[in-house]
Amino acid sequence: MKILRYHMEDWLNDSFQVDYNLSASGCQDYTLAELLELCQADLADLGGLFLGDNDTRGSLALRQEICRSYDSLDLDRLMVANGSSEALFCFFNELLEPGDEVVIHFPAFQCLYQIPLSIGCQVKFLDLLDCPGWRLDLDRLAELVTPRTKLIIINNPHNPLGWTLTRDELAQIGRIAAANQAHLLFDEHYRYLPLTPGADLIPSGYDVCRPLHPDTHASGSMIKCLGIVGIRIGWLMTEPGLLARCRDYKDYLTHTIPSLTDHLARVALASRETIVRRKKQDILPNLAALNAFMADHAEVFQYQPPSGGVVCFPRMRQVADSRRFCEIMLRDHQVSLLPGFAFETPPHLRLNFGIDHARFTEALGRMDQCLAQAAAGRIRLEG
Ligand SMILES: Cc1ncc(COP(=O)(O)O)c(C=O)c1O
Repeated sequence: MKILRYHMEDWLNDSFQVDYNLSASGCQDYTLAELLELCQADLADLGGLFLGDNDTRGSLALRQEICRSYDSLDLDRLMVANGSSEALFCFFNELLEPGDEVVIHFPAFQCLYQIPLSIGCQVKFLDLLDCPGWRLDLDRLAELVTPRTKLIIINNPHNPLGWTLTRDELAQIGRIAAANQAHLLFDEHYRYLPLTPGADLIPSGYDVCRPLHPDTHASGSMIKCLGIVGIRIGWLMTEPGLLARCRDYKDYLTHTIPSLTDHLARVALASRETIVRRKKQDILPNLAALNAFMADHAEVFQYQPPSGGVVCFPRMRQVADSRRFCEIMLRDHQVSLLPGFAFETPPHLRLNFGIDHARFTEALGRMDQCLAQAAAGRIRLEG
């Protein structure tokens, strides 16, 4: 199987050392000591951790902890992987055959459509940027899905657009899949970070749709929502037969979940409410500042405020490609934004608001300066 390069990786790798990194997709990450302190866990306990082999589905303790975030998930339907990318890779390769029809929205996180394309599937895209509010239009989804469709893929909350789906919308998607006997996969990477006041968890498509349609599957993660991207944990939820085959597939890749990351994932998930509450002390003021910034610069950016996760995807109105603006921001202002080419939509850019509030405000100030220079004709943003 031949795979295309990830469009975004070179840019992201060049952004690690920058002062204000708004190109990443997760919340600002913790140190180990910070994480353990927030979780009221003792660093010394790590000394007693057994560094032996582990269940290839992830430890029982971690799987039990993951199940607590779902209404209808049991241990037989859950496999932990080294990142949800690994879970998705196993799932696509086990379920899909060359020629299978797959329906997905666009833009989307690259692996969600690139792996099906590499397998030789016929991928049909629903263009979100052509839908009202850039949201998933369920009538258009219903038109696109046919009895030939093998798999529908939905990423909720959406990276990069930041929308979330309601329970009703999820149920409608479940009914579309059931009516066409299509498998349905939800990628729920940002589920732990709803931005609506008072919300704790974004409803899971797996919970809502499986009672309506048994061929519902999902991938999940918490590493970006909890600021622990370096531990590389994700999971797959599917029916036991397919799970066993995905587990076989994983045995050829990484096989085991390292005991250290398995342990840290369990500790962090057990304290997720505390961690998310702490994260929101920065993220919600950041979002308010971002909304104000976008209102002030409405002639430059077309913007839809996000309702889940920590990214949004404004479009630059006056340029065909945001790359030059992003390059100037990176080189002259030490602020990294992800140009839209990374999602094959050049006029847009992805902006992360998951860093601490003081630094986020400073980064917005630097964008403001750059736009003022462009408005005064001192720099050019196109070309
Ligand atoms: C929507 C979505 N799905 C899957 C992934 C892959 O995640 P992981 O880092 O857990 O492999 C990402 C990573 O950015 C993502 O944004």
